[in-house]
Amino acid sequence: MLSDNISRAADGSLRFAGQSVPALAEHYGTPLYLMDEERIRANCRMYLDAFRAAFGGAALPLYAGKAASFKQMYRIMAAEGMGVEAVSQGEIHTALSVGYPAGRIYFHGDGKTPADVRFAMEHGIGCFIVDNEHELALVDAEARRLGRRQKVLLRITPGIDPHTYEAVNTGTVDVKFGVPLETGQAFAFVQEALALEGLEVAGLHCHVGSMVFDEDVFERTLDIMVGFMASLYRSLGFVTRELNVGGGYGVRYLESDRQADIPARIAAVAAHLKQLCADAGLPLPFFLMEPGRSIVADAGMTVYTVSTVKHIPGFKRYAIVDGGMGDNPRYCLYQARYTVLHADRGAENEVIFDLAGRCCESGDIIQPAIPLPADTRPGEHIAVCTTGAYNYSMASNYNRLGRPPVVMLRGGESYVAVRRESIEDLCALDL
Ligand code: LLP
Repeated sequence: MLSDNISRAADGSLRFAGQSVPALAEHYGTPLYLMDEERIRANCRMYLDAFRAAFGGAALPLYAGKAASFKQMYRIMAAEGMGVEAVSQGEIHTALSVGYPAGRIYFHGDGKTPADVRFAMEHGIGCFIVDNEHELALVDAEARRLGRRQKVLLRITPGIDPHTYEAVNTGTVDVKFGVPLETGQAFAFVQEALALEGLEVAGLHCHVGSMVFDEDVFERTLDIMVGFMASLYRSLGFVTRELNVGGGYGVRYLESDRQADIPARIAAVAAHLKQLCADAGLPLPFFLMEPGRSIVADAGMTVYTVSTVKHIPGFKRYAIVDGGMGDNPRYCLYQARYTVLHADRGAENEVIFDLAGRCCESGDIIQPAIPLPADTRPGEHIAVCTTGAYNYSMASNYNRLGRPPVVMLRGGESYVAVRRESIEDLCALDL
């Protein structure tokens, strides 16, 4: 199986986190997001342990809330001792509403509005990751208005191609995030920030992309970032006390995908950073990473019920289910690949289907060309694996479909973390 929290019972039915997927589907209805709480916690501990082993206390992994943001997630992050990065008032509010400590939140985003800046500062957000010069001025003005110095990291674009897909590449010089090194703008950006009285410039941030598998991406990033840190020290006497290299480790969506050995990668990244800093005569900065996908993706599974099966002889078979691009837009957006499994019975007499959604457009495909039993029929359940990251968080109400609930699985029990959106909810904002 793709992941060790997925298995089949003796009767062929699917089990996730040790529980019967058809039984959960019957109990909670479909479409349904399942999340394996123990896997989320284990993934957090993998990062925390690897950081501790490599850096002692001088490092912190920040969970990238954009991957899946709802209250229970922040309760888990608080309990595990993870930091958090947030990109909107909504994510910040969600975290704070369950008592997640504001001081451990890093606030991201390339288009923060004046209202966002005010909201975050009034709520005592620990650190702003400033994307651009305009934001520098905004944060400085707000900090001075409140009579404080706001801790910030400055987002730099290092000019690295992470070899991932276009929509999630964020490292090359021409992306919309951060301030590029290559053009000399990054140096001026730091200089400008240091002159502002409302800011405490703690260090630098960069994020080169998501679904990164190239083994040396973070090492190449560090080569550039530590080079920049050395030039800042030489020219401005500025010491980078914190260095945040973003998120990005890839996960397995298909059996043929590689499995990144994240603890080993972190150990290698740490050794490389220590060497670079020693060679440059710089103190080792406090080290941060922002994993999202690798914390929650393999903790998730989406379960659907087949509504209809269509066979167009000589062309295609469709299994059409009760969800679609509304709960999982990733194939439509990125041609993202997934492992799809019949949830009620094992692989027998399989033929190729397109798994299609119920939205009113031909492009509403959850996954093309997947094998399913030839006699797959309405009423049966289909599971899409590895949907814990960027599925719930990117879901929409297209066609006025309610978003599925998020049901957490823990120790043989299940509970609702986000309830199903009702048709009344869908009209709740209409006047
Ligand atoms: N830090 C920053 C600044 C980011 O922009 C991101 C992701 C992360 C951390 C977390 O990266 P991760 O560890 O999850 O790769 N919707 C796309 C992914 C967009 C990623 C955006 N930024 C998808 O569904 O594949």
